[in-house]
Amino acid sequence: MNRFLHRVAAEIAAHLDATSEEVAAWLEFPPDSALGDIALPCFRLAKTLRQAPQAIAAQLAGKLGANALFTAEAAGPYLNVRLPRSAAWQEILAQIAADDAFFTTPRGGGQTVAIDLSSPNIAKPFSMGHLRSTVIGTAVANILASDGYRVLRINHLGDWGTQFGKIIVAYRRFGDEAKVRADPIQELNALYVRFHDEAALDPALDDEARAAFKSLEDGDADSLALWRWIVRVSLEEFQRTYAMLGTQFDHLLGESFYNDKMPDVVQELTDKRLLTKSDGAEVVMLDDEGLPPCLIRRSDGATLYPTRDLAAALYRRDALGADRLLYVVGAEQRLHFQQVFAVLARMGRAFAANCAHVAFGMMLMDGKKMSTRKGQVVRLQDVLEEAVSRARAIIAEKNPGLPGADRTARDIGVGAVVFNDLKTNRLHDVDFTMDTALAFEGETGPYVQYAHARACSVLRKAGLLTATDGSPDRGVADRGGPDGSPAELDDASWELAKLLGRYADIRLRAADEADPSLIAKHALDIGQAFNRFYHDCPILSAQEPVRSLRLSLTDATRLTLRAALGLLGVAQPTEI
Ligand code: ARG
Repeated sequence: MNRFLHRVAAEIAAHLDATSEEVAAWLEFPPDSALGDIALPCFRLAKTLRQAPQAIAAQLAGKLGANALFTAEAAGPYLNVRLPRSAAWQEILAQIAADDAFFTTPRGGGQTVAIDLSSPNIAKPFSMGHLRSTVIGTAVANILASDGYRVLRINHLGDWGTQFGKIIVAYRRFGDEAKVRADPIQELNALYVRFHDEAALDPALDDEARAAFKSLEDGDADSLALWRWIVRVSLEEFQRTYAMLGTQFDHLLGESFYNDKMPDVVQELTDKRLLTKSDGAEVVMLDDEGLPPCLIRRSDGATLYPTRDLAAALYRRDALGADRLLYVVGAEQRLHFQQVFAVLARMGRAFAANCAHVAFGMMLMDGKKMSTRKGQVVRLQDVLEEAVSRARAIIAEKNPGLPGADRTARDIGVGAVVFNDLKTNRLHDVDFTMDTALAFEGETGPYVQYAHARACSVLRKAGLLTATDGSPDRGVADRGGPDGSPAELDDASWELAKLLGRYADIRLRAADEADPSLIAKHALDIGQAFNRFYHDCPILSAQEPVRSLRLSLTDATRLTLRAALGLLGVAQPTEI
């Protein structure tokens, strides 16, 4: 489909004042082959061509009617294209088997992209909210790596800032070391909440906290030792969650890492006459950009979140050699990143144009917002553990003898939570409901994982895959498939083949838009099409050459789902 699609686009473009890339982006894919395989809606052409869309479709059909690659006919305002099934599916399967430009592409040309992801806050729970940054960031990193970029996954831990003044004061006043050791984040967060309650009654506490943070920034040994301990116990807890998700970072560089790099930033801003005093604080005015001033230094000299992000951006660019900087952070921080990027541009840093905020919507639990202030947080770790134990129960019921069931339960439970997040367009809010996410039916991770495992099982029965775990490499597609089989594809096989063929383009679009949901949704479509195919078309009991043809399709499905789930960071068990 991939190559066919481009040929169709090029052919149509030749009759229009448009490039084949433009035409390719306009093409639609009717869900039902009865309408054709590819459709060009002619509405958008009506304006430039000053003709009714119906007339345009009819003319295009007339011009394209007699070509060797495909048939075209007009249906109202649409131009419907039909592909020659056997030629197209053979090409699709050959591409998938050969892996050429299908699962990997070189568009990044080795450029380095720094991806800021996860970045939870020390002493605060790793919430379901941070899950979004972690899984979207990981998927975006995988997708860009498959497109020829060198990716640097950076965890910009929230380990610095005025809140540490508050935690230090609260710990010194009300803290209990044994309790913190027993359940670090829970206890530190409780202390933080208590600080706010007490400070509401006694505002002097706020001054004390400000002074405590200042002492940290000034390098006071006692404060630093306490802070270091808090960072360490929090990180140990985060690490358990990362281990469960399989998340990896290339750099763990918290905000505190930039302490000794901020004076240079402030100096550069001063030299470039960008700093203005405002109520004792120092800011960069961004009126021309239509943005509020960016706060660089508080009146007591303490630096701020934006200052640390400026230092971090320069470090990623200058020390790590990043060409592009992506920030996978909730949409509520849009203004912050607009300001940071604007200040970088004011500093004359051309790479400011290559910085982007990869924003995402909120995570809702059972339809409700989650808050951190009041301590009413849902811990990701708890959710993951529950998902795994439920998956374990489902397996015990469905397939009691499954070898390696615990490992598979983990793959499915964690995969369900991750997929639930990634299937949603990243800018939309995600609702997490345990039952829905874990269902084997519906738009879920387990559904796709199950389709993949089913394909593996068919191939195993045909003697084409041996291993039941690990990653078998190639099945029948590698053997070239049925040679020149004249058999016409039935509808179910054809729908599946077309979806497989489109995967390569979907991956590129996901890379361009930094949106893993395109891949997740396509994997769901493939899973559905495969299950329909499996249901409608006997595979192992079919006569040759149909049997081989269906096995090739099954193997291409396995390879494509494996690749798609892999990019999403979702495990691909071969038996469920
Ligand atoms: N720690 C911050 C938070 O949880 C997110 C940090 C995002 N990354 C950045 N470079 N500012 O809100």
